[in-house]
Amino acid sequence: MTAPILAARDLRIRFPTQDGQETVKAVDGVSFDVEAGETFGVIGESGSGKSTLGRAAVCLLRPTSGEVLHRGGNPYLLPSKALRQQRRDYQIIFQDPNAALNPRMRIVDSIREPLDILGAGSRAQRTAQAMAMLEMVGLRAEFGARYPHELSGGQKQRVNIARVLTVRPKLVVCDEVVAALDVSIRADILNLFASLQGEFGLTYLFITHDIGVVSHVSSRIAVMYLGRFMELGPAETITHRPLHPYSVALLSAEPTPLPSAMRTGKRIVLQGEIPSPTAPPSGCRFRTRCPVARDACAETEPEWREVSTGHFIACHFPGSLAAH
Ligand SMILES: Nc1ncnc2c1ncn2[C@@H]1O[C@H](COP(=O)(O)OP(=O)(O)O)[C@@H](O)[C@H]1O
Ligand code: SF4
Ligand SMILES: [Mg+2]
Repeated sequence: MTAPILAARDLRIRFPTQDGQETVKAVDGVSFDVEAGETFGVIGESGSGKSTLGRAAVCLLRPTSGEVLHRGGNPYLLPSKALRQQRRDYQIIFQDPNAALNPRMRIVDSIREPLDILGAGSRAQRTAQAMAMLEMVGLRAEFGARYPHELSGGQKQRVNIARVLTVRPKLVVCDEVVAALDVSIRADILNLFASLQGEFGLTYLFITHDIGVVSHVSSRIAVMYLGRFMELGPAETITHRPLHPYSVALLSAEPTPLPSAMRTGKRIVLQGEIPSPTAPPSGCRFRTRCPVARDACAETEPEWREVSTGHFIACHFPGSLAAH
C-alpha cells in the first residue's frame, strides 16, 4: 500500500500568547490521512485551528509535537534541497485574494514568478507557461498585462490558483478560498477547483467555516473544534447523518440554502463563545456549549473511535442531539 499523500499524527501546534504568559493550543492532537486525489474538507467555527492545521500541512509552521507526514515521510527530516522540492509539491491558497499578489507586478509576472524562482527553461518559455495557465483558470490573455487592482476578487483568486499550479503541486491547501468573494461567484470558483483537480491530478485539503461550501466539494469531512477533530467521515455521512452534537448544531445553523435533504428541522443555536484555546474545558472540550452534556462529559475526554467504517467520532453520547 502506498502511504497517504498527507497525514498528521497526534499533531500539536502551540503559540505563546501576546503577553508570553500563556500557551495557545491552536492544534491540540489531530490525526488523519489524506489519500491522493481526494478532497478532504475541514470545517469548524473561526478560532478552531483550521488555518494553523493548513499551514502546518504545507510546512509553513513547524509542529510543536507530533508529525505531519508527506507520503509517509517527515519533511523536516529531509535534506534542504529535497525539502524545497517537497514545499513545491504542497501548496496553499489563502482567503485574501491579495495575500500572494504583488500590487506592482503585472498578472503574467506574478504567475511566472514561481517558475522564475525555479529557473527552468528560458524566460520566454516561462512566460508562455504562465499565459497557458492564465487560460486554464478561465482568464483571457489580455489579463496578463493588467495589475491586481484592475481585477475583481474572483479574478484575483483565479490568478492565485494559476500561480500555484505553475509548479505542478500534488496537494493544495485551500484555506477559506471563496469566503472573501461575492456569493454570486463562489460556485464558479468552486467549479474551477473541481475541474482543475481532474486535469492536474490534485489533492485538496479544503478548509472552510461554511458547510455549504465544504459539502459541495469534499469526499470526506472533518469537523474541528478548539484544536481537535470532533467527527470525521464521508461527506455524505457528515452532512446527512452527523452524530456529534457539534456537527449537528453546525449543520442546523447553516443560513444559506442547503439541499432540502440536508436541511434539519430545528435550528440549534449554540450558546456562548468558543472557549479560549489557552485552557480548553476539561473532559469533552465542547461540553460548555453542548446542549446534551452530562456529568461524565466534564470528567473524561471522549476517545476518538470508529463507529462505522471510516466514520470517527469523539463523543460519549453520539447521536443524542437530534436535529429534528
Ligand atoms: N501566530 C499566532 N500566534 C498566536 N496565536 C495564534 C497564532 N495563529 C493562530 N493563533 C490562535 O490559534 C487559534 C486558532 O487559530 P486559527 O488556526 O487561525 O483558527 P481558524 O482558522 O479555525 O479560525 C486562535 O485562537 C488564534 O488566535
Ligand atoms: S461528550 Fe458530552 S459534551 Fe461532548 S459532545 Fe458528546 S454529549 Fe456533548
Ligand atoms: Mg482560518
